[in-house]
Amino acid sequence: MIEKRQFYINGEWVDPAVPNDFEVIDPSTEEACAIISLGSKADTDAAVAAAKDALPGWMYLPAEERIAYVEKLLAIYDTRGEELAQAMSAEMGAPIDMSRTQQVGSGSYHLKNFIRAAKEVPFDKPLSDRFQNDRIIMEAVGVAALITPWNWPMNQVTLKVGAAAIAGCTMVLKPSEQSPLNAMVFAQLMHEAGFPKGVFNLVNGDGPGVGTQLSGHPDVDMVSFTGSTRAGIAISQNAANTLKKVHLELGGKGANVIFADADEKAVKRGVLHMMNNTGQSCNAPSRMLVQRPIYDQAVETAAEVANSITVGNAHDEGRHIGPVVNEVQFNKIQDLIQKGIDEGARLIAGGTGRPDGMNRGFYVKPTVFADVNNEMTIAREEIFGPVLTMIPFDTEEEAVEIANDTPYGLTNYVQTQDGERANRMARKLRSGMVEMNGQSRSPGAPFGGMKQSGKGREGGVWGIEDFLEVKAVGGWAAE
Ligand code: NAI
Ligand code: MG
Repeated sequence: MIEKRQFYINGEWVDPAVPNDFEVIDPSTEEACAIISLGSKADTDAAVAAAKDALPGWMYLPAEERIAYVEKLLAIYDTRGEELAQAMSAEMGAPIDMSRTQQVGSGSYHLKNFIRAAKEVPFDKPLSDRFQNDRIIMEAVGVAALITPWNWPMNQVTLKVGAAAIAGCTMVLKPSEQSPLNAMVFAQLMHEAGFPKGVFNLVNGDGPGVGTQLSGHPDVDMVSFTGSTRAGIAISQNAANTLKKVHLELGGKGANVIFADADEKAVKRGVLHMMNNTGQSCNAPSRMLVQRPIYDQAVETAAEVANSITVGNAHDEGRHIGPVVNEVQFNKIQDLIQKGIDEGARLIAGGTGRPDGMNRGFYVKPTVFADVNNEMTIAREEIFGPVLTMIPFDTEEEAVEIANDTPYGLTNYVQTQDGERANRMARKLRSGMVEMNGQSRSPGAPFGGMKQSGKGREGGVWGIEDFLEVKAVGGWAAE
């Protein structure tokens, strides 16, 4: 059994102030794969104090020097992918090949993009050509608490740590207690990259414990959070007492609007995208809106594609999807599938229960519902499992109305070969991101949502600016 009870505080691994063992469960087997500790207030206080002490030394370094540390981190990260991949497969169930490519790859991608974007951040410049003795300085917000989820663990950790480090913030990372192991490997990489002590700290813990201690801590200036809308609200309320800056990346219920003139791969692409990472992505295209003339054909294709997806152990190589992360999520997904059936949606693939022949592990059948209407629970709640809902529509106006009729606003998708219509749709969809015809956003594009999907943007220049305050100086002396 792997035992990793320590936290990384002020440049060294230290024992928890109070022992509080927590088992990390492998969702492929339902067995414990490691033991960690959940921190307590004394650990949180020590980590925040270290970050606070390190702040002046870090934030006043020239930005080029901070960028150089991130470059060193990236070089080390690229050599330690296998360790990170194995950790994620074991603790959150991403199939090992997918973990090596997509999960680990997302981390190097973001670090690389931040290094490039950093050169475009206007850290220090005159207000304008006309007002040379007004100076606009962008400086670190301060001590940042970074609270991350288990679904794309390295993606989230690098999006936050990379941006905070370049901006000049010092930080305390609390990874999800469901997936702490990859973050502990990442902390080793930060150490090896030589970040000055206290710049980066890691304390394990859960939401009611370390999560809440961080979001209410008087010496924390900002909280950057990714996870459920429920926790995002709790964090915002707790952080309001000290008026912290709060950055939130929350859930989604993305529409994938497929018009009759969409390319022939559109339906297949939409189903596979939904099922990737076993449906555990905030930007999953979970409501497939299909225009009536191609609806019956689309339903048939979607069922075929879903039935062709295999489900298997995360430690096995291959292109299958893995289990969902834990028992709570498994039960939640089962309940929602049952609700879909009870509320009258037409089940065309999958359903409740484990796939045939599996009786252990949090495995869910790739599931598709047709004839869903947007009022049904499965069209309103984020399921966070391999479950697709299909909704027919007639006109473009109706598609926009259905797509926008949700409390969420993270990513919507449009499939049509009519370029003018695609662009019209992109303007009308109320979401932080719109992706059309299978083209994802390019490196450096901002990630984030509107409405209850959150506030703020991650990635690229926007992601770095989120960790910066704007300072306006009048009477700046000529240099
Ligand atoms: P969660 O929001 O409880 O967990 C995410 C992180 O927040 C973890 O690090 C957790 O320890 C922390 N946390 C929880 N409550 C907190 C609190 N009150 N204060 C501070 N930190 C807190 O998510 P959970 O329960 O694992 O998943 C539930 C649902 O949330 C999923 O079914 C999905 O719908 C959504 N979710 C969305 C994610 C996204 O990428 N936007 C990621 C994970 C979950
Ligand atoms: Mg686990």
